[in-house]
Amino acid sequence: MAKLHVLFENGNPERIIEFDPAKAPFQHDGLPGSLLDVLLAHGVHLEHACGGNCACTTCHVIVKSGTEHLSEAEENELDLLDKAPGLTPTSRLGCQAVIQDDCELTIRIPRFTINTA
Ligand code: FES
Repeated sequence: MAKLHVLFENGNPERIIEFDPAKAPFQHDGLPGSLLDVLLAHGVHLEHACGGNCACTTCHVIVKSGTEHLSEAEENELDLLDKAPGLTPTSRLGCQAVIQDDCELTIRIPRFTINTA
């Protein structure tokens, strides 16, 4: 089982999601097993204006720990991230960052997103 801690800049209380990465996909938006896939399937809203197709930046999240358990960012994701408000060295697009194994991760969901699609 994997454990995902979700922190919210908007002041919502932390959520902790436990799930089995091997059971992905959990719903239909974003790459199977991506942060977006897991969050939406567990009732945590994350903006995803392009439907999880790596064509906006609304699913921007900041990885606080466990980044080594996520898939590597591809060129297209990195190009889009450059446009994300509040970009950090550990920023990822939630629809593209796939949780690769049983692990523990912490992410923060920014207060603001901008739809560049
Ligand atoms: S939902 Fe648009 S890039 Fe992730």
